This record gives sequence, structure tokens and C-alpha cells, in this order.
Amino acid sequence: MKPTLHLFDEIGTVCTMQGAAEKKGRRVTKADLGLIHDGAMVTDEGRLIWIGKAAELPNELKPLRDHSKMCTRLKGRAVIPGLIECHTHLIYAGNRTTEFERRLQGESYQSIAASGGGILATVLATRAANLDELIEMGQVRANRFLRQGVTTLEIKSGYGLTVDSELKILRAAGNIKGPRIVRTFLGAHAIPKEALSADHYLDQLILEAFPMIKNEGLAERVDIFIERGYFSVDQGRRYLRAARDLGFQLAVHADQLTSSGGAALAVELKAHSAEHLLQIDDQEINLLAASDVTCVLLPTSDLYMDCQFPPARSLLDAGARVAVATDMNPGTSPSQDLALSGLLARLKMQMSWPEVMAAYTVGAAHALGLEREIGSLTVGRVCDFCVIDGHLEELFLEAGRMPIRSVYRSGVEIPIS
Ligand code: NIG
Ligand code: FE
Repeated sequence: MKPTLHLFDEIGTVCTMQGAAEKKGRRVTKADLGLIHDGAMVTDEGRLIWIGKAAELPNELKPLRDHSKMCTRLKGRAVIPGLIECHTHLIYAGNRTTEFERRLQGESYQSIAASGGGILATVLATRAANLDELIEMGQVRANRFLRQGVTTLEIKSGYGLTVDSELKILRAAGNIKGPRIVRTFLGAHAIPKEALSADHYLDQLILEAFPMIKNEGLAERVDIFIERGYFSVDQGRRYLRAARDLGFQLAVHADQLTSSGGAALAVELKAHSAEHLLQIDDQEINLLAASDVTCVLLPTSDLYMDCQFPPARSLLDAGARVAVATDMNPGTSPSQDLALSGLLARLKMQMSWPEVMAAYTVGAAHALGLEREIGSLTVGRVCDFCVIDGHLEELFLEAGRMPIRSVYRSGVEIPIS
């Protein structure tokens, strides 16, 4: 037998998500989960080369069962594709605990930001931290995601707001071990205090940061916070066009606090994702649904902000592709809880369980431009998967607990502590 082959045998149920992948994450129903009962999978060098009922394993692959090193018996447990957490601000220092208390006393996020808190408070702490400290803190957080079944983790910069400190954050993100890391440059997260103007700062990012990030391969994507008091649609258009010209994928923090035109801009520029989307109307919902933009919804941040949730049901019913993520950050979403995030999607956004599963796999893969590689257990794709401890339907149910027993990336088990 070819020594690079591996058989995963005796799987209770494989939730392949193949139907959802074929439909590109749109209008997903229970039938699109692609369930295979009493299944098996075979990988070659970490890619799936066969998947089906264990009883139908082709003859030429059957000898794998006799090689203990080439066969893992999953003893009737269920398997899902590795989960994809497609929106985090994982690398930062400090905390904003006093701001949370201030908000509970009635102060708004915007007024706290205007008084020097908010993103700029985390910027001060993050600039003061060195690369090793950021890696160490980031690794602890990444391990928490891994334990919840996250095999691909998106990490945004955005708490440096100088070229050097933004690059430091991207480098720290690149040193995180465990999940596959996708890096997004969010230098345009806020206007730094020392900037002469927003446009001047954006020029600096375009002219200095973009080429360095591109040359060193420090990020695949570029994101911007389109919001009153942050960056306007016109500034976003200019900035993202420059990023696109250099070959970056585009993402937009859109319509989170106020209706600010970010969603329409994402559609106009053919961005991969528009993220948050609380303040969108029917026209924008239809625009998004008709486009290839993935709508990334972040219900834990909406919970912490104690605001409304995005119109997920309308987006889904209009045919939009949706992803869900935690938005983990020290300000609006100090939570890494995938179970809570999925639970809120179900409870507060009326998403069905298959829709949440698709959002955390196929939808998120599209948001990151990785849909040909990950997101479903499909022959030819990378075999990232999780073994479930209990029943599939226990996923995204019990806040604080994802029933994950073990996690495999490219067919290889990643130790989780
Ligand atoms: O996604 N909206 C902008 N960025 C973050 C919040 C950042 C912060 O408050 O530190 C978000 O919610
Ligand atoms: Fe965010």
C-alpha cells in the first residue's frame, strides 16, 4: 500500500456538508448535510480520496484495515468538517473590563471611544507588547478555539495602527500553531490619534504597509471599518481598490453601529465578505443575496453590545450565503465561545441547525476564499475534521461547551490540551 494513505474507519455518522458545498452555502436544508451513516474516509497526504459507507470501501483500499498505522477506528463516533472561525481580532494586549462596566451604566460604545477608550485603548496596550508576548497570548486563545473544533482561524490585525505595529501583529498571527491561520490586514480599523487625517493615514497604509505585507506574504485579505467616526464609503472604496489591485481579497466591517453603506460597497467591489450587517435594509439584503459576497454575522458581539441582531432570516430566505463567527475581541465581543455564537444564531437569528453548520463550514470557507480546499468533506479537498463526543445535534446547543473529542488537520490529529 502507498504509505501516505490513511483510512478512518467505523465512523457512526459523517456530516459531509457536501450538499451545502454544492449549493455554495445558499438555501441550505437538512438534506444538504450530506449525512453518511456507518461511514469511512480515506486520505492521501491529507486530502480526501474516498468517502462513503464503510461496507462499500473499494477492494483495493481494504488492505488498509490490516495496517494499524494506516487505519484509525473511530468506534461509531460522528465526524464533521473542521470548523472555520472566519472573523476574530485574536492578537491584542490588555483588556477593556472597565469599559464594559461603563456601558452597563449607560454610556455608549461611541462615547467611550470618543473619550479615548474603545479600539484606541487596546491600541496603546498592543503597541507596548512585544512580538513574543503577542504570540504567547495569541497561542493561548488559539488553543481555546482548537479545543472547540476550529481547524481554520482567521485573525485580523488592527490594534497597532502604525505600519510597524500592524506588521508586528500580522507576524504574531503567523506564528500561531495548531489551526490553519488566515490573516487579514485591518490597519484601517480606526484613525490613530497621531494621524494628520484619515486620508493621510490611509495613504500611508496603501503606500507603505500594502507592499510590505504583499512582499512578505503577511496577509491574504484587507479589511476596513466603514462607520461614522471611522472610515467613510469613499475612503473605503479608494483603499480597497488599491488593495484589490495588489491582489488582496477584500472584507468590510459593514453597517455595525449605524447604516453606513459598507454592505453596498462590499457588493460593488466584489469583496469576499461583508461582516456584522446589523443595520441593513431590504434593498441591501437583496443586493447581498444576488452577489457573491458572504455575509458574516457575529451574534456574540451583538449580545455584548446589547443591540439588535442582524436580519439573518431575511438574508437566508433571499438566498444570501451566511457565515457565523465570534468576532472575538476585547471590546465588543470578549468571547471565544463557538457554542454560544451558534446558539445565538439559532435562538436570536432564527437559523436552523443545518444553516448554522453550513455557516461555520461552507459559508466561512467562502468568506475566506478557501471553498475549494475546506468546508466540506469532499473528495479532492483537504481532510480537516472533528470527531464528536456525543450526538451531532449537541453542537451549537450548550453555551460554553462544544462536544469535540479530537481534531484533525490535513488528516493528522492535532493534540488538544
Ligand atoms: O468587530 N467594529 C470594529 N471592530 C471590532 C470592535 C473592536 C473593539 O471594540 O475593540 C468589532 O466589533
Ligand atoms: Fe470585528
